[in-house]
Amino acid sequence: MNTDLGEFLGYAIITLYLLTILNYFVKLANKKLKVHLKKNKTVSAGFSLLTKFIVKNHKLFGLLTIAVLLSHAANQFLIYGISQTGALAASVLVLQVALGVYGYKAKKRGKTWLRIHRGVAVLLMVAIGIHIL
Ligand code: HEM
Ligand code: HEM
Repeated sequence: MNTDLGEFLGYAIITLYLLTILNYFVKLANKKLKVHLKKNKTVSAGFSLLTKFIVKNHKLFGLLTIAVLLSHAANQFLIYGISQTGALAASVLVLQVALGVYGYKAKKRGKTWLRIHRGVAVLLMVAIGIHIL
């Protein structure tokens, strides 16, 4: 157990989190910048590849956060003991992943589910902010 590893794992969770929320931003950019993207073939093809990569791997990035979270929490717990802000961020993260899996498995996921999943993504950013700042 060491402090550098704990820090690395913490930032790895944040990196994966950022990759999950890119899902929202690449889709938004595709909608809003459609006209501009079409003007340049290389940019358009590149952006299309990025969109596919981000959307296709969304579930994977989301699920991986849990594995890294467990490693970070175990490492930090053995050095520092319980962290209240860490536990709060972890609770929101677990809730978000459970919501994601539910939405993925649900036969019909409504607009309400998407609103909640997006809202909890924002909440998670706040919780992580409280933990590390
Ligand atoms: C969403 C979940 C979490 C994220 C994204 C996260 C992220 C991070 C990051 C990036 C750091 C390094 C901060 C720095 O060097 O300034 C850190 C430190 C730390 N984390 Fe977490 N963490 C999470 C959950 C937890 C959990 C569940 C625990 C419980 C044991 C925990 C305990 C700690 C402790 C004790 C530190 C070091 C002391 C501190 O700087 O406050 N974290 N975390
Ligand atoms: C850190 C964890 C996660 C975060 C922060 C997160 C965040 C988001 C966000 C912001 C959106 C909205 C994208 C849009 O507006 O179109 C979204 C969509 C979605 N998420 Fe997640 N998510 C996470 C984990 C998961 C997991 C683990 C799953 C399933 C296993 C999942 C399944 C979905 C599905 C099915 C959608 C809607 C369709 C799609 O864009 O693929 N999410 N997520």
